[in-house]
Amino acid sequence: MSNAVTDVLNRLPKAISDRLQRGRNWVLLHLRMRLRYVAVVIVVSSVLLPWLGSQVWIDPVVVGGQLAVPLVSQEFFSLAFDPVILLGGTGALAVYWRFGQTEYQLRHRLYEDIMLVPLADADDRHGDPPGSKRAVQFEMDRSVLVLGETGSGKTEAIKVLAHQLQADPDEAFVIFDYKQDYQAFFPEDDIIRLSSRDSTVTWNVFNEIEEDGDYDEIAKAVFAGAEVDNDYFTNAAAQVLADVLRLIQLRAKPDEIPTNVDLIGFVDTVDVDHMREWFVAEDLSSKKHLPDGVEASSNIVSILEERVKAVFRDDFGEAGTFSVREYMADPRGRVLLLDFPIQQSASVQPIFRLLIDWSIRFGLDDDRGSYYILDEFAALPELDMLERLINAGRAYNCYAILGVQAIPQLRDTYGSDKADSLLSGLAQEIHLRVGQGSVEYCRKRIGRERVERNVGPDEDDEWLVETDENDIRVFEDYPIGEDTLQNFEAGRGVVHTPAGRQHGRLYLLDAINGRLLPADRPGLAARLWSRLFNRTQRQPALEKREPEAPPQLEERQKD
Ligand SMILES: Nc1ncnc2c1ncn2[C@@H]1O[C@H](COP(=O)(O)OP(=O)(O)OP(=O)(O)O)[C@@H](O)[C@H]1O
Ligand SMILES: [Mg+2]
Repeated sequence: MSNAVTDVLNRLPKAISDRLQRGRNWVLLHLRMRLRYVAVVIVVSSVLLPWLGSQVWIDPVVVGGQLAVPLVSQEFFSLAFDPVILLGGTGALAVYWRFGQTEYQLRHRLYEDIMLVPLADADDRHGDPPGSKRAVQFEMDRSVLVLGETGSGKTEAIKVLAHQLQADPDEAFVIFDYKQDYQAFFPEDDIIRLSSRDSTVTWNVFNEIEEDGDYDEIAKAVFAGAEVDNDYFTNAAAQVLADVLRLIQLRAKPDEIPTNVDLIGFVDTVDVDHMREWFVAEDLSSKKHLPDGVEASSNIVSILEERVKAVFRDDFGEAGTFSVREYMADPRGRVLLLDFPIQQSASVQPIFRLLIDWSIRFGLDDDRGSYYILDEFAALPELDMLERLINAGRAYNCYAILGVQAIPQLRDTYGSDKADSLLSGLAQEIHLRVGQGSVEYCRKRIGRERVERNVGPDEDDEWLVETDENDIRVFEDYPIGEDTLQNFEAGRGVVHTPAGRQHGRLYLLDAINGRLLPADRPGLAARLWSRLFNRTQRQPALEKREPEAPPQLEERQKD
């Protein structure tokens, strides 16, 4: 037998089992999506049909004048629609609803590499965005930007996308919840809520530390975004804090992990002289920042004390065990909700920034999927890991959905160059209503098009391309007006993919829940027809990807 035939035969069982698996998932998904209707039909039938069965007798068909075969007998009705059996069936459905695979688990299994942006009143399709007019497809392996000013519908759009992300038990799902928008979005049991009040877990900064460099990273993070009078003092205070953390760990009993309470207690009670003594005893490098008899030493220590007390407050100042590091290693189907307390925003910002950065860092550390919903992340001081998440995330299965109010806000936080680099890494975007400051960015993304307009002979326009003898002039102009971009109603916007864009109004999640399937999937009849007669392949769900360079592992720096 030739090699090719053996090859095909070897692959056959796997191909068949993949097909069967997909078919099973497809059936389960449809059952799942229509479960409530199935339950209603069963309950109604269980009440009505036994009665109907006793009322209606369907005439037996007489075969050859002798043998009478009842088409549907009374016994059949009363047995098949026996209330006990039927209520049991409904119960089984309820059990499946509660414990079976969720709709999005099934959907994700079937269409694992796409996300849909379902649109109403869709028009102005440009280029060839994958998917259809009514549901543009995003690829799962690239991060998404949702841009829009307050009230434009960012959060609602993000929810539609988040609903389609996988929450496989071993995939981490991290949400930065700036305005308490996502609390009710996930089942309460699945949420780990971390905040300065009413947290469901208590965070321990010492549990985040894995290697020596982490002390410095954390200390630096605690001082991020601090109002600085004097750079030298602040930097020195950060270095001293790193050594304070080291010292507390060194002085803890073996096998004991100190807590945030120990840290606060330490900075509260220990004076400069003791600190210096201990630093010298343990040969910690920041002893150089605390020379004896110099006022600067106590200044540095008081800056440190003030900062630690401001940042590690309320729940963050309790003795706990939770760490983002452990969550990322073993999410167990839970969602990590970083619930930002807006009223104390300035003081707790550094912790939130640290928690997000840390979650990204550990997400990029292994190949399991991790998802980041960072709505209004530009309200936090600059995230160190964001650029790597956007640009290298796909190699490590880390995907972000980013919500931003305005491009200038992003530039303020990240600086122009970095903001541009972040934006250029984001090829999938939803632009909702924007303010003046973002219009230019949106227009650039849309690009100019040639339009024909009949104008008077003297009209002068810098974008005029050519004029013909009938005074029809061809301009290059933006196809969507500046005013239009600034006046979209809530939920209306332009969906950009690398291949093209589509304008429309996004559905609210409630309106599409349970009905979200890739729109380009033809019905069964159409598929059979094309199989039998056209013999053409249906359009692949996704644009053909450029052959991709293998992930560049060597480029990855180990922090
Ligand atoms: N697709 C939509 N269709 C209809 N109404 C919508 C849509 N999206 C949003 N809205 C309406 O707009 C309101 C604001 O939406 P959303 O909270 O998503 O805006 P946002 O951009 O996140 O605002 P903020 O900056 O305040 O967080 C919603 O409460 C809803 O009433
Ligand atoms: Mg919002």
